Amino acid sequence: MGAMETGEQNIGKQKLCILGIESSCDDTSAAIVADGKLLSNVIASQAVHSSYGGVIPELASRAHQQNIVPAVHEAVKRAGISVSDISAVAYTRGPGLIGSLLVGTSFAKGLAVSLGLPLIDVNHLQAHILAHFIQEPGQEHEVPGFPFICLLVSGGNSQIVLVRGFNDFEILGQTIDDAAGEAFDKCAKVLGGPYPGGPYVDKTARDGDDSMFKFAKPHVPGLDYSFSGLKTSFLYLVRDNLKNDPGFVEKHRGDLCASFQRTVVECLMQKLKEAFKQHKVECLALAGGVSANSALRKAFTDFCEAEKVKAFVPKISYTTDNAAMIATAALYQYRSRSFDKLDSVPFARAVV
Ligand code: KG4
Repeated sequence: MGAMETGEQNIGKQKLCILGIESSCDDTSAAIVADGKLLSNVIASQAVHSSYGGVIPELASRAHQQNIVPAVHEAVKRAGISVSDISAVAYTRGPGLIGSLLVGTSFAKGLAVSLGLPLIDVNHLQAHILAHFIQEPGQEHEVPGFPFICLLVSGGNSQIVLVRGFNDFEILGQTIDDAAGEAFDKCAKVLGGPYPGGPYVDKTARDGDDSMFKFAKPHVPGLDYSFSGLKTSFLYLVRDNLKNDPGFVEKHRGDLCASFQRTVVECLMQKLKEAFKQHKVECLALAGGVSANSALRKAFTDFCEAEKVKAFVPKISYTTDNAAMIATAALYQYRSRSFDKLDSVPFARAVV
């Protein structure tokens, strides 16, 4: 085999069986999708970051090195296949932490070369959106019809994407600074909560009054977002109140989380509604880690109901980083013969 070739010559095995590998941030994941059905999805999360209140890139890369071989091995085992059944190797090329991405990229290339298999590079953000097309055996579900609009909200990105097809994405708007997930993480950190902070804020908000505190909403033109000002205004509100009342956080933990969450959800929904006004689609979807948020899910489904459009909310297990979505996205790239070259490199920043 030539130095820059992948094993595209081996296409045509009877059963299309894709190994997906995800290593963009702090989850090492491997999954097998065979004939369009998810057979396994193994996720090795990295507890090492929790004591730092955020992901430490250097530690993430090392943990991926430790986890990647066992994760792939386990995914193959749980799927009940052998390595020789795999028809293509897919991996997350970006965006993400470059050191983390390099681990998955190098592993995928090495495996594809050694097995003589085609290599498929997957865009992490597109994969989050295509998570709606993950099909588990015996649990087939309805999928969004094209075109649809997806609100993609994760720890690293916040975007509104018009999806015209499996390989046809248009970003209508995106954050100009921080992502919605980062804002949730920061809110939790200010309150002394754990990392990642989104689930903590969501849970703590349940007992709170969401109208007790007001935060200035950003004014960003078009369909773009901004969350950095909101983060700062939350920090200042807590800091200023603590000066007069050291028990302020303890007294108002639930109210602070609920008020902050309501503001983030209102910001997200306001631009989504605007996008829907501009592009009258029949389906709307949520994707990414923040789509697990209960208040966002409610606001989203209420809006879809009022507008009589179909609402697609991903299964909680597929909202955060996972390789099932990578293998699923790769399936459609395989079908359109979109393969990777062995000299391609990962990319850190968002491009859809
Ligand atoms: O999609 P994801 O796993 O990471 C990226 O690809 O960036 O999303 C992780 C983000 C974190 O910021 C986390 O705090 C947030 O999703 N998150 C939530 C909830 N569950 C996870 N944010 C708000 N409410 C939740 N229930």
